[in-house]
Amino acid sequence: MTETTGTIHLDDHRVFYDRRFAVEKDKGEKDLLLIHGFPLDHKMWIKQLDDLSQTHNVLAIDLPGFGQSDDLKHGTSIADMADCIAKVLDELKIEQVVFCGLSMGGYIGWQFWKRHRNRLNGLIFANTKAAADDETTRRARLINAQAADRNGQDWVAESMLPKLFAEENFSNRIPAVDRIDQTIRNTRLNGTVYGQLAMAAREDATEWLDQIEVPTLVVAGSEDTITPADGMKAMSDQMANSTFIEIQGAGHLSPLEKPEAFNSAVLKFLG
Ligand code: MLT
Repeated sequence: MTETTGTIHLDDHRVFYDRRFAVEKDKGEKDLLLIHGFPLDHKMWIKQLDDLSQTHNVLAIDLPGFGQSDDLKHGTSIADMADCIAKVLDELKIEQVVFCGLSMGGYIGWQFWKRHRNRLNGLIFANTKAAADDETTRRARLINAQAADRNGQDWVAESMLPKLFAEENFSNRIPAVDRIDQTIRNTRLNGTVYGQLAMAAREDATEWLDQIEVPTLVVAGSEDTITPADGMKAMSDQMANSTFIEIQGAGHLSPLEKPEAFNSAVLKFLG
């Protein structure tokens, strides 16, 4: 595997990426793009970057406002993030990808399908949903954004962390718990606050589900309370070409909590 990290300079901001090229060159033609959840960064995919790049080219980026990318600007939408990703692919001269997004990354995935579907040769939705927020969730996001602004990232980490993991993984303090704790503490407030606003304003994708024909994999965690498995199964059932899997013992962060099960499902999907 060869690894390249770098920064793409777009019009008014820079985007960090980590790109790994497959060891088995003949299989490496299918590029897998990994888009992180909120309020995380590309390092949440470390087990996927390491393992899946044995056979496939893998690219992970930090979205604006997160990790090593520039700040997220007020008013940036989930659709803008999808456009930003398309520009990154242009710069890296990657025509088509299998787009894999977790949670907020999945919200961006729906927009990527809507706006750039000719660039997709597959979709993977992990621990996410198609529905937009209802009024209660939207209000809660705005309250959370204000509280984050007042109390800072340590408060964000403390309030979010237990909800992200299956209870057992959290209480056993699997290594990913401390890594994610640190990531959230390091995330900048602009990512947290404007990210919440972008998610609150996102479009509903449920109406699009029966139009999505590209091969799709939907991955749920049996213990996920943020995006429960039964809702994800119903979502998968509405797409013509979708396969659903539920990973036992995983919460909202299935790629980190059960990386072997997650990676084997992705490898099977990639073929
Ligand atoms: C995420 O993991 O990206 C978040 O749970 C998404 C959300 O807040 O809806």
